[in-house]
Amino acid sequence: MSISRPAFFPTDENVWRVRSFIPLAQTGLYLLFHLALRNFLTSLLRTLPIKLMTQSELLTGAVQAFKTQFGSSPTHVATAPGRVNLIGEHTDYNDGFVLPVAINRQTVIGASLRDDSMLCIFSKNNESFVQASLATLTATKEHSWSNYSKGVAFELQRKGYTIRGANLVINSDVPVASGLSSSAALEMATAYALLILNKISLPPQEIINICHRAEFDFVGVHCGVMDQFISCLGRRGHALFLDCQRLAYDHIPIPEGAAFVVCDTGVGRELAASEYNIRRQQCAEGVRELKSVLPSIQTLRDVSLEDFEQHKGRLGDLIRRRSRHVISENHRVLQSVTALRKNDLSEFGKLMYQSHLSLKNDYEVSCPELDCVVDICAEEEGVYGARMTGAGFGGCAICLVNREFAGAVVRRLLIEYRQKTGRTPQVYLCTAEDGAHSWELS
Ligand code: GLA
Repeated sequence: MSISRPAFFPTDENVWRVRSFIPLAQTGLYLLFHLALRNFLTSLLRTLPIKLMTQSELLTGAVQAFKTQFGSSPTHVATAPGRVNLIGEHTDYNDGFVLPVAINRQTVIGASLRDDSMLCIFSKNNESFVQASLATLTATKEHSWSNYSKGVAFELQRKGYTIRGANLVINSDVPVASGLSSSAALEMATAYALLILNKISLPPQEIINICHRAEFDFVGVHCGVMDQFISCLGRRGHALFLDCQRLAYDHIPIPEGAAFVVCDTGVGRELAASEYNIRRQQCAEGVRELKSVLPSIQTLRDVSLEDFEQHKGRLGDLIRRRSRHVISENHRVLQSVTALRKNDLSEFGKLMYQSHLSLKNDYEVSCPELDCVVDICAEEEGVYGARMTGAGFGGCAICLVNREFAGAVVRRLLIEYRQKTGRTPQVYLCTAEDGAHSWELS
């Protein structure tokens, strides 16, 4: 009787085949499992609700910390927001145009007068305490966070305003060193706190000037005026169109359907301060060289696109590119304001992409991570435009998106930015808020 062998009979040869097939199948299954898991987690993340920024605890936190530090409640409170710039980068110190918004991240200060002339400041964020005599205020390397508040007190006195000693407790949710102007928020909140405590009433431009001088002279950061302006004069639902030459401004309504997603790349901005000053010098050099043919110009703001095209041959490659960024960026801000007034978000978005390219190629203040955020946003549905924002060399990028798609953009950034760069981003859905204010606690 002959027994026919089943199709799969364990001969030595096919036992070997089976054995070598098992690890292969295991690897395949393993890969499939991981792929499925990853897809599952990705889609899960994409559908999770986004946690919006909350600010309600800031005040309670400041008051509680004040009681712990000074044994009583503060008599007054001041708050000032951080900012994100929609367009008009590296134009403020060239007397140009900017278009920032004050955001839903702020610095809160609980404050009370003292009987002496000491400034006693506790930072809840740094868990650190500093005291200094109002008569001998100096910037220090240690507790450098306090220089912004001390600088404001110093500038107020330098301008002839008499202020009394004060206890201040700072609590903030503006991320530090991310390009969202935590320093201007701290200066402005300090100014509002000291002014209300001392019953001094000043016009906004004077307060802005005092805070700007505090940062420029006392702290020694040679920034433009944009950050202090917007922290003071922000308006809910509006962007601030500021002419940094005439210091004239207008609040432009942001169309209902627009949302702003801000992505912090997590890249430190170590280069920002030194490169910022180099860019300022390069702009001044551009002005010096163009002055020989355009004698009436004081800054790059005074150079039109047509004049630049006609005379750019006089400039070397580097200074030509730096100048071209500033001159074209000023033009883009004007176009953006027109687009915003017409509710034309598509046009606004195009200008944002152009701004980013100019900052990347001509001004050279972007970095691969900022470019990566812009590229990711550009692929997502509902996005009008994206660009780096602030001084650059890391920090944040901003994306203008149809409100309905904002959640998807946030989630995509959280997943894809990490996959592409290995860094963990912080992503914020920002709204345009009011500027600084202060009040008495009852
Ligand atoms: C920093 C400065 C601003 C401005 C931007 C670049 O944020 O503080 O004054 O110059 O860089 O637009």
